[in-house]
Amino acid sequence: MKILGIESSCDETAASVVEDGRKLLSNVIQSQIDIHVAYGGVVPEVAARSHIEVINPVINQALQDAKVDWDDIDAIAVTYAPGLVGSLLIGTLAARTLALLKNKPLYAVHHVEGHVYANFLLDQPPALPMLALIVSGGHSQLVLFRDHGNYELLGQTQDDAVGEAFDKVAKIIGLPYPGGPSIAKAAELGDANAYQFPKAHMQNPYDFSFSGLKTAVLRRVQHECGVDHTFPSFELPERLDELKRNNIAASFQSVAIETLVDKTIKAYNDYSPASVVIAGGVAANQELRRQLSERLPININYAPMNLCTDNAAMIAALAYYMAQKVEPTDPRTLEVVPSLSMTKTAWHKHQGL
Ligand code: KG4
Ligand code: ZN
Repeated sequence: MKILGIESSCDETAASVVEDGRKLLSNVIQSQIDIHVAYGGVVPEVAARSHIEVINPVINQALQDAKVDWDDIDAIAVTYAPGLVGSLLIGTLAARTLALLKNKPLYAVHHVEGHVYANFLLDQPPALPMLALIVSGGHSQLVLFRDHGNYELLGQTQDDAVGEAFDKVAKIIGLPYPGGPSIAKAAELGDANAYQFPKAHMQNPYDFSFSGLKTAVLRRVQHECGVDHTFPSFELPERLDELKRNNIAASFQSVAIETLVDKTIKAYNDYSPASVVIAGGVAANQELRRQLSERLPININYAPMNLCTDNAAMIAALAYYMAQKVEPTDPRTLEVVPSLSMTKTAWHKHQGL
């Protein structure tokens, strides 16, 4: 079964053809990072306009790279939630139109759940039940997948997502957007023990909280720069020297990652899953991979970087499993849902089951 996946929920326009949920035939990703870097973050209206410009060429390229034509495509899968409303609309409109025109079944995929399925594109797909640590710019959660489409949310962030914390801390210390890779790079040159930042203690041991850590970094930077807490954060970077910047990046990253790993280990011990996977943009972080591999008693197969950040292959991979269990969605009525958590989601709810 060959599925064409389409993804446009944030600042990447992507299309991909995946065979049987496993085999990557093509994976086209048109990133808008260059466009948004000048603003220090994603500008929703600019993102939507950019998706319109490239969506058709990106889809055509995905078919071409996979060496398939429309007759070979068995279904179309598209991200319908969550994300920026204007961005989601472009991908879903393209998918709905193509499903009608080419007479293909259409599957509506939850973006965050899709991230987990990047791990099914590896040579050895993870065994179920599977514990997933999902860490992106908008989400931080621990989810236990008992089966495809049957999962339990163990915990999630109560405020900022961990990727958001990376992005905000990067801004405070003057590193470029996107903050995650910038912090990781600076951290390599810094001393992770230079500063002690706090870990949040949560009532539910699987929940996360990163806003206190972000504020602690801000206060520390203000202190290091010799200014008080009213000093505007956008004027801090020019007062920070490179050594301190690298040390703060390393100390922040170390605590943020350790928090993720502590909770993953606890969930692993409590639930004894057959496999553990990490998913979402922050899963690209090498320090996360290092700490997890060191502390977990089982091996993890990590997805390559380009499948951790936003892509359409993960959307097509998940749709393969949906196609085994649920009816396709109606292309005439599919609507986007800009905020939809994984608990309320997913395909079962969406399909009215
Ligand atoms: O999954 P993703 O591409 O988009 C969302 O769905 O949010 O994740 C983007 C997030 C950003 O916050 C970015 O800073 C973070 O992932 N990120 C990283 C790394 N690469 C991307 N965070 C830490 N270390 C990295 N190497
Ligand atoms: Zn994402």
